[in-house]
Amino acid sequence: MNYTHDDYQKAVDVIRQKTTQQPTIGLVLGSGLGSLADTLANATAIPYSEIPGWPTSTVHGHAGRLVIGELEGHTVVAQQGRAHFYEGYDMQTITFPIRVMHFLGINTLILTNAAGGVDPSYSVGDLMLINDHINFPGMTGSNPLMGPNDERIGPRFVGLAQAYDRELRTIARNIASANNIPLHEGVYAAVSGPSFETPAEIRMLRTIGANAVGMSTVHEVLVARHTGIRVLACSGITNVAIDHVDSKLETNHEEVLEAGKVIVPRLTTILTGVLRALA
Ligand code: HPA
Repeated sequence: MNYTHDDYQKAVDVIRQKTTQQPTIGLVLGSGLGSLADTLANATAIPYSEIPGWPTSTVHGHAGRLVIGELEGHTVVAQQGRAHFYEGYDMQTITFPIRVMHFLGINTLILTNAAGGVDPSYSVGDLMLINDHINFPGMTGSNPLMGPNDERIGPRFVGLAQAYDRELRTIARNIASANNIPLHEGVYAAVSGPSFETPAEIRMLRTIGANAVGMSTVHEVLVARHTGIRVLACSGITNVAIDHVDSKLETNHEEVLEAGKVIVPRLTTILTGVLRALA
């Protein structure tokens, strides 16, 4: 789907009819991690189905609402759940919400996701600040910035060497250590899903330098960086990737959601701490 300026404007108009609040920070809350949006003060919640052009997620654990409200002195706009490539949407459609957030006026985007731990030192419940990524769908022809480029939104070619803002990462690291929350930092490998990786794929990901693997976030980062939005992204390790075929274990979505319960309080401490530091 190639959206036009008009499509973004229609979505923005519907949101502005519901609230006069002007968000400057965007949050994308992934699988099982949406509850932070329930804590916003003076909140307006808009079901995705009421926003023209907005893709809805069919995945259990994703509420499917846009919530605008106050958090730590900022007006934020939070996506409580997101749509995924594996649900059958194209890359432009699943990143439409990021463009809408851009046109709403955000300058900073904080993304969260559930991810599998590829690094053997990672445990379930750990957090990993993303400092770089490997974009498998993008490298094989599914990049949301493909197609006609609107120069009013951003440039044709986007550099990604500084995609994950250094200053925001430093703040997050400081908040984590002040609160005794173990925080890894590493490379997130994006895959399309919905099948989880095979043991051979996990060993390959480890070999090429990935620390965690997941099915979201990276395409959103591309679209945010295209418009110049600053990005902070953090993975919650919901399962440890299985790297040998003789394992009796199997990865499943229930363990992903279950681990979210441990991850949410830690992630909440870090995200609210970062927002407070930005105030
Ligand atoms: N692989 C891919 N995506 C995921 C995983 C995983 O193991 N866990 C949560 N999202």
